[in-house]
Amino acid sequence: MLQSPANMSFDQFMHKGIRFAQKFYSEDHLNFIENEFEVFDDDVYNVTFPKSGTNWMIEMLNLIKNDGDPTIIHTVPIFERSPWFETVPFKDQMDKLTRPRIISSHLPCHLFPKSFSKSKAKIVYTMRNPKDVIVSLYHFSKILFLFQENDNVQKSIEDFLEGNTMFGSWFDHIKGWMQMKGDSRVFFITYEELQKDHRGSVVRLCKFLGKELTDAQIDSVVQHSSFSSMKDNKMSNWSQLPSDVLDQTKGSFMRKGVSGDWKNHFTVAQSEYFDKVYQERMKDLDTSFFWEQK
Ligand code: A3P
Repeated sequence: MLQSPANMSFDQFMHKGIRFAQKFYSEDHLNFIENEFEVFDDDVYNVTFPKSGTNWMIEMLNLIKNDGDPTIIHTVPIFERSPWFETVPFKDQMDKLTRPRIISSHLPCHLFPKSFSKSKAKIVYTMRNPKDVIVSLYHFSKILFLFQENDNVQKSIEDFLEGNTMFGSWFDHIKGWMQMKGDSRVFFITYEELQKDHRGSVVRLCKFLGKELTDAQIDSVVQHSSFSSMKDNKMSNWSQLPSDVLDQTKGSFMRKGVSGDWKNHFTVAQSEYFDKVYQERMKDLDTSFFWEQK
């Protein structure tokens, strides 16, 4: 068992090259998810590297599923509507989901259920500018009980670049999932595209999911999944978690919800260093990402 590197204050273990917190994950359950979990053809998986817009996507997918009707997002906590199926505490929640199930996951591609390959299930994979992922994670680590206090952006950048974070290397996560590019069951989108064109993104999501919504229903999805609506919705803003899990005196889960906040946290030297490593690590990937556009 590993003890507390990577800023985490709880015991950790490595499973197939990926770091997991003992508190939420187990070897048995991860093996079950990979080898025995039954993927249904109508499942929709919301997959991300942490802090890339997972909860935003949960909100949109649940609203789309319900034709824009916000009842579910106002009555069921976000982590119960679309639980992270690899976590032990949400295990029982899976049986309570109505079809089509909307399931969240931070798993890298190589740990995803094998039964997906023969299914017609769909995956929405949301990515975000890694510099903003670092910043979001840096602030989140101040409030989530799993992390140790960290006031050091430099340390956060180093940990991230070394893959010394939960769910391993961001680069490997992205590259692993990008292997599915061209598979019509997988939809790739970025946090930045969602920011730039929220409504257009919802329309594209509906098309991918085969859902025909009216203009008014699409408007409702957009309105109820806006940052301000989610921040004010106690079923979506994580405010109902006990203070020993999420210390909201130190910050909020719905923090800023913008792109480019890294510019307020990185020095020029840190940014240049990050870019250098980024270019090196991404050079074998034949894709240009939305956040790379100048
Ligand atoms: P910030 O910390 O930069 O504000 P995840 O859900 O993967 O944990 O990602 C959390 C990030 O998504 C946080 O980013 C959070 O504020 C942002 N977020 C959540 N809902 C959002 C929304 N409706 N619009 C924009 N950003 C949102």
